[in-house]
Amino acid sequence: MCGITGYIGNKEAKEFLIEGLKRLEYRGYDSSGICVLEEKTLKTLKAKGKLSNLIDITSKETLSSNIGIGHTRWATHGAPTVENSHPHLSADGNFAVVHNGIIENYRELKSMLEDKGFKFVSQTDTEVIPFLLQYNYKGNILDAVKATVGMLKGAFALVILSTYDNGRLYAVRKDSPLILGRGEKETYIASDIPAILPYTKEIYLLEQDEIAIAEKEKVTVLNKEGKEISKEPFSITWDVKAAEKDGYEHFMLKEIMEQPNAIEKTVLPRINNEKVDFSEISLTEEYVRNISRIFIVACGSAYHAGIVGRNLIEAMARVSVQTELASEFRYMNPIINKDDLVIIISQSGETSDTLASLRYAKEKGAKILSIVNVKGSTIARESDDVLYTNAGPEIAVATTKAYICQVQVLNLLAIYIATAKGMINSSEHTALLHGIKSLPREVSEVLKKSDEIKQLAKKFKYTENAFFIGRGLDYAVALEGSLKLKEISYVHSEAYAAGELKHGTISLIEEGTLVIALATCKTLFDKMLSNIKEVKARGATVVAIVSGNGEALEKEVDFCLSIPETCEMFSGTAETVLLQLLAYYITCEKGYDPDKPRNLAKSVTVE
Ligand code: F6R
Repeated sequence: MCGITGYIGNKEAKEFLIEGLKRLEYRGYDSSGICVLEEKTLKTLKAKGKLSNLIDITSKETLSSNIGIGHTRWATHGAPTVENSHPHLSADGNFAVVHNGIIENYRELKSMLEDKGFKFVSQTDTEVIPFLLQYNYKGNILDAVKATVGMLKGAFALVILSTYDNGRLYAVRKDSPLILGRGEKETYIASDIPAILPYTKEIYLLEQDEIAIAEKEKVTVLNKEGKEISKEPFSITWDVKAAEKDGYEHFMLKEIMEQPNAIEKTVLPRINNEKVDFSEISLTEEYVRNISRIFIVACGSAYHAGIVGRNLIEAMARVSVQTELASEFRYMNPIINKDDLVIIISQSGETSDTLASLRYAKEKGAKILSIVNVKGSTIARESDDVLYTNAGPEIAVATTKAYICQVQVLNLLAIYIATAKGMINSSEHTALLHGIKSLPREVSEVLKKSDEIKQLAKKFKYTENAFFIGRGLDYAVALEGSLKLKEISYVHSEAYAAGELKHGTISLIEEGTLVIALATCKTLFDKMLSNIKEVKARGATVVAIVSGNGEALEKEVDFCLSIPETCEMFSGTAETVLLQLLAYYITCEKGYDPDKPRNLAKSVTVE
């Protein structure tokens, strides 16, 4: 989604405004702009397309100022043009605004303002904001900000710069994240942590409906009622290097390679004395023993992690689990009550549909446990309990290490619930703990196969269609493998439960169609073999993924890739990593940038 930067201090504002935007590029955007206050004039520079276009323009300008705002726009209302890009100015040129989110009532506001003689120059919803600031300004900026915010409906994070005050920036947050960071006689503002990571680790997270006044020397935060509140800064533990490529060609490859470490950091601190230790949350063994129903709610890959979770929790703990897409769940009037546990999964902790589902379930009295990567994010803060994935910052748009860590938390939860309910005996428990602790090593084994996978990917440079098939947990993994391939390589790809194929989809299989057959589930291996034969008989090119059972398949398929033989419950982890690499290398073969897939954004804060 869009990115925001803001700066006030002693340095040239444009340096951070641009540098911060570069660090937010991964979020997806299609135009950009900055605005600084020079003397008494707001000077705005904007460009369509890549940030490098804006950098070209700004490098030709002196732009001498210590205060300014910046933005990368991901178009929603109006095409990605220079006119529609932010910052937007008021008609009198006294207010500049950058905005993330959507103003839902902008049509009414626009027509009210047009009736008063305001002339709009863009097609955006955002432009009403500077116009309203001008309209509401009666000599006090803060009063104008409050009056304007009171008229807006929807989700927004705003940063406002005005000619009336060269010592302050005004930041507002409602449903769209915004953070402030304090440096030495300077304040940074950004929509996401990586933007300010090299400058400061002390940040203030703005909460719902709060307004911050950013000055060189301090940050003042006001609550919804306009009362000043004291806010403790939050210390970021992420290292600057974690948000840089560190010699890798792409963030995605770096993040794939970081997975053994990310799994260790997520799993090992939660195993104590050979038991899963969730003392960090209030999910006591007694509570868990009495759970009758669990919902898992998420979007995209996080939803796929939820499907893996459902398989594991139901298989190990025999508790009924429903995994739902957040965008559907929030509108389907689900039957939930206070005895239900709702698990919300989100890397960013800001996904709009997921957050709305959380709020819905909370209103119904359910207990909310979230699995989140970004500390202090809205979903984390609004949940009863949070289990953080310790994946570190994930920059590539397509999730890899955060997804893998979500699965690890679910693996641990399944063991925890199964143990509390007495559904597994001690030797099964030991085998499961051994299995999960072995995953970093098994994933490292898969990573060593990068070259083999890269070579195989060359054969699929011109592939346009692919099917991922599997049964049981392999099917859950197929969903993620297929999404990974399609979102970055633009190969049309579908995931199918292998037994379902012949109920319609098999008609699409023809000579040379790529079928990735996931065949690691030993109990369902023979059934899978039959499904592979069915697609082979219709001319498919089959790549099989196996685990210690390769021999039986090698003669039946075109290519065979193996993952280490592992605890069957957890084989999905190594298998997914292999599919991430395959998607990554096919994308590189096709000449696309895996870090910045078209039309996609890292955190989806609009519906
Ligand atoms: C796919 C991907 C997305 C996200 C989805 C949810 O690679 O990254 O499908 O999984 O947008 O995002 P979070 O986890 O931030 O709620």
